[in-house]
Amino acid sequence: MNQGMRTQVGIVGAGPAGLVLSHLLHLEGIDSVVLEAHTREYVQERVRAGVLEQNTVDLFTRTGLGARMQREGLVHHGIELRFQGRGHRIDFRELTGRAITIYAQGDVVKDLIHARLAAGGTVLFEAEVVSLHDLESSHSSSRKPSIRFRKDGTLMELTCDFIAGCDGFHGVCRPSIPRGVLTAYERTYPFGWLGILAEVPPAFEELVYCYHDRGFALLSMRSLRLSRLYLQCSPGDLIENWPDARIWQELQTRSACQGWSLTGGPIIQKGIAGMRSFVVEPMQYGRLFLAGDAAHIVPPTGAKGLNLAVADVRVLASAMADFYRSGDRAPCDHYSETCLRRVWKIQRFSWWMTSMLHRFDSDNAFDRRRQLGDLDYVTSSRAASQSLAENYVGLPTD
Ligand code: APR
Ligand code: PHB
Repeated sequence: MNQGMRTQVGIVGAGPAGLVLSHLLHLEGIDSVVLEAHTREYVQERVRAGVLEQNTVDLFTRTGLGARMQREGLVHHGIELRFQGRGHRIDFRELTGRAITIYAQGDVVKDLIHARLAAGGTVLFEAEVVSLHDLESSHSSSRKPSIRFRKDGTLMELTCDFIAGCDGFHGVCRPSIPRGVLTAYERTYPFGWLGILAEVPPAFEELVYCYHDRGFALLSMRSLRLSRLYLQCSPGDLIENWPDARIWQELQTRSACQGWSLTGGPIIQKGIAGMRSFVVEPMQYGRLFLAGDAAHIVPPTGAKGLNLAVADVRVLASAMADFYRSGDRAPCDHYSETCLRRVWKIQRFSWWMTSMLHRFDSDNAFDRRRQLGDLDYVTSSRAASQSLAENYVGLPTD
């Protein structure tokens, strides 16, 4: 080891969780270093989520990140649920007075990196974290937590007061916690999503969630020129089995509705992803705090992954600010408990949306009828549609 660095908070991962945390800490006057294994281009360009709930939009606006999002983001006041050949709108404005914004995760990440670097922040790309040390050290001891990472072929060390594990589901932080400390709660789903990005204007002005005997489909978008569309598929399905014509045909079938037709176009990206629900408890060990996908995964049906990551780091930044301002450790000690209350509500919502809208091969005719009963209820009862709407636009933050 021939290089050492020091900061207050060492952040592993430059996804939405790590970057928003670094930004919020900076606004509190707290120094951080973000270590990211991939290149800047990679994290900015990878195709990920695209729906920001109102809480996330408000936070970005309030903290100076909102300029481009306000110019280019698409504000939607509802979504459509489509089943049995009919569309039913859930009107967010009328039911909650709030909205969502369509703005790609890549753009969020671009804006955050730009803001961090413009403010003199340190984000090291192609810096792969290999191990974490002294996580249990107390604040009074002379030993401090440290992060070892490889940069330009050199092994380096970052010493800090706290470590934030924002390194996603496959990162190194969660596995650095000794065995027996964490309990994992998990459900995998017997299907995946085939997602495409197509150079074609959105087929509909809002997002359309389609329930169909052949399986779920989702019509989404990234801009007024770019559509993002998904099809439920087998978890082990191969993208080679899905030539473009088959994808468009299947989307057309599953979104069928009176007076409606879907126009195809050039597909510029396609891929298949599995679906899972996952939570570890607690989200903290010593001076390591897990946030975002490192601590939990939701299936994408409720569009919550990115928003939940942002909710975690809001709690974390505020807890760390209390510690540095007054020495009060209680908010840090309660981080996991505070976050998990929201996490489980969002897990419930994401699981429910997924269960209501997908085809489960193990389901019998009763289960299909029950799903239709759920859809009928949610689109005809004000109480039920309001419940969907308040979750979709984002439950209140404490
Ligand atoms: N060293 C450094 N960086 C690492 C390491 C490592 N050993 N392992 C992983 N990373 C980086 C990844 O390269 C990635 O850029 O951590 C980052 C984690 O980012 P995300 O996976 O985007 O996770 P998070 O910030 O929690 O984002 C939450 O956004 O689109 C959604 O599905 C995503 O819902 C999730 C959400
Ligand atoms: C997306 O646009 O990528 C998207 C939208 C809504 C979802 C999931 C993904 O529920």
